[in-house]
Amino acid sequence: MKMNPLVSVLHLYDVVNAPGVTADISHMDTGCCGMNSSSNLLFSLFLDKNVITIYKIPQLESALMSIDLVIIPAGVPRKPGMTRDDLFNINAGIVRTIYEGIAKVCPKAIVNLISNPVNSTVPIAAEVFKKGGTCDPKRLLGVTMLDVVRANTFVAEVLGLDPREVDVPVVGGHAEVDVPVVRGFFLSYLQNKWAAAQACKIQKTVCLCMQVKPPYSLTKEETEYLTNWIQNGGTEVVEAKAGAGSTTLSMAYTTVKFAYACLRGLRGDAGVVECTFVASEVTELPFFATKVQLGRSGAEEIYQLGPLNERIGLEKAKMELTSNIHKGVSFIKK
Ligand code: LMR
Repeated sequence: MKMNPLVSVLHLYDVVNAPGVTADISHMDTGCCGMNSSSNLLFSLFLDKNVITIYKIPQLESALMSIDLVIIPAGVPRKPGMTRDDLFNINAGIVRTIYEGIAKVCPKAIVNLISNPVNSTVPIAAEVFKKGGTCDPKRLLGVTMLDVVRANTFVAEVLGLDPREVDVPVVGGHAEVDVPVVRGFFLSYLQNKWAAAQACKIQKTVCLCMQVKPPYSLTKEETEYLTNWIQNGGTEVVEAKAGAGSTTLSMAYTTVKFAYACLRGLRGDAGVVECTFVASEVTELPFFATKVQLGRSGAEEIYQLGPLNERIGLEKAKMELTSNIHKGVSFIKK
């Protein structure tokens, strides 16, 4: 983010080591600077040092002052054998504390929430916002772009394509892999190109043809293989790291990519469309991950799902999401 040309000021906040990291990155000869808030887009980054302690609220509040975009990767990562939901008890409290600061100091900021379990932490944040009377759900975005990035990479590998040319939307949420099909839902719209072409005529244009690039078809076996791989991407990394943490580098890559899209939306660029877990009316659930159009006020337009290759997966995903969302909401209501 220090290298991002759209970032003019970067605030870092953590429970430990933030001054050292700030000093370190302040030597980079890029455009954005430490605490100078002179120009347009501001940005605050919460570093995750994997330490649980009481936040020093005044420091948190000063880190959030005059900020346009807040990125929250705070919290603990999972270890082999754990589900994302196993992180709930620790990460829920951390997210609540940070969100209380946001609701008080910069309620108009766009927030990119990464802390797991995202399907529960986003509802937690929304409830804190409601309590503070500053709820603008369009600005609260759960980051699910890692699923899309994985889908692009894995589909490209199976089809022998360059991943930079592939764009596969993943919808639903970002949940554990041991609940089948909940974790992202692979949309092979173009499994049947004719159906997709027909659907394009009746759906919003951007919703379909624009979503899956380039046009390709997959066999049922390939679709199943890829769906499973995409859903298990996080666990693959957690197991390979054997207790030394979870995804950090590909998550950082994804975070920067998604934040850049949000900054472009904030700047007023047209046609910035990405997948995110957000308050939504696309299904009967209050939150759902789909493609949205990003703009000055966050998720300005939320796109419909369009035709899916597998409705059963969607129903399973909704069941799991219902319980994840309920858990987050009741944590605050209690
Ligand atoms: C991921 O998908 O890589 C992250 O949610 C981290 C994890 O625990 O899987």
